[in-house]
Amino acid sequence: MARLEGKVAIVTGAGRPDNIGAAVCDAFLREGARAVIATDLRVESTAALTGEMEGKHGAGRFKLVVQDATLEADWAALVETVLAEFGAIDVLVNNAGISIHGGIETTSLEDLRKVMAVNHDSGFLGMKHCAPALSETIKRFPGGGSVINTVSMASYMPNANNLGYHVSKSAQRMLTLCGAIEFGPKRIRVNSVHPGQTTTPLLKEAYEEYARLGLYESGQAGIQNLVDMCPLGIESFPEDTAHAFVYLASDESRFVTGASIYHDGGLGRRY
Ligand SMILES: NC(=O)c1ccc[n+]([C@@H]2O[C@H](COP(=O)([O-])OP(=O)(O)OC[C@H]3O[C@@H](n4cnc5c(N)ncnc54)[C@H](O)[C@@H]3O)[C@@H](O)[C@H]2O)c1
Repeated sequence: MARLEGKVAIVTGAGRPDNIGAAVCDAFLREGARAVIATDLRVESTAALTGEMEGKHGAGRFKLVVQDATLEADWAALVETVLAEFGAIDVLVNNAGISIHGGIETTSLEDLRKVMAVNHDSGFLGMKHCAPALSETIKRFPGGGSVINTVSMASYMPNANNLGYHVSKSAQRMLTLCGAIEFGPKRIRVNSVHPGQTTTPLLKEAYEEYARLGLYESGQAGIQNLVDMCPLGIESFPEDTAHAFVYLASDESRFVTGASIYHDGGLGRRY
């Protein structure tokens, strides 16, 4: 039996074909998920991504929904749609994320609130609105419901140039831990995956901005610097990161909650 046979999953921030969310959707479908609902603000790649997933996994199991994950009304509508169409929500992946550069003196309050809204508040809203459905999963699967938050090694490491990202990721880590305690009795597990450097549009954009600030010769040089600092010394791609999500979504992790998987090639152990 496939590892996610019969499960229904929501993955936010999964609308770009080359990002972590899309790789998680792909891996979940490959592992037998009954349905995967990807959500994103972006609409321009809808046809391409849907075509790619249907080409690999067949029609009717992948659905891309336009959602602003920071809006409570969008969560209420999404949960209603998914329950009407698929009858369950077994796995919730809070993966949407943004980064706006700046330190304490150079970040506007508006930008700080925007980063907090996407990186932290969206997960809070997702957990709040999906909890009733996730608590039903235990009746069908021994692992119960599973929430997986895509956090970051940034949640542990300070950075003078990226305040909003690091502060919001730190809050998202604590949201995960509080959720694990609150939702345990409902047999909903809440865990986090902390990617280190994973080559995606977000990472490339972040390092191009660091290069503009003069911190590196180029964005690529900045990414190479990360690879060089990483004990394993290799680059990581979204499909590598997706394996950690499959484990946490599956019943193999039925006794695992409040856990953080560092998917960073050992980079964070240097700090
Ligand atoms: N790539 C890395 O090296 C890395 C490292 C650590 C953590 N992460 C985390 O992984 C997650 C995925 O990042 P990625 O690297 O794939 O980047 P990405 O930019 O490709 O993906 C993030 C997605 O979130 C979407 N999004 C932004 N605001 C949204 C909103 N309000 N509602 C719904 N969707 C929204 C974006 O449109 C984008 O598609 C993020 O939470 C990021 O912080 C990535």
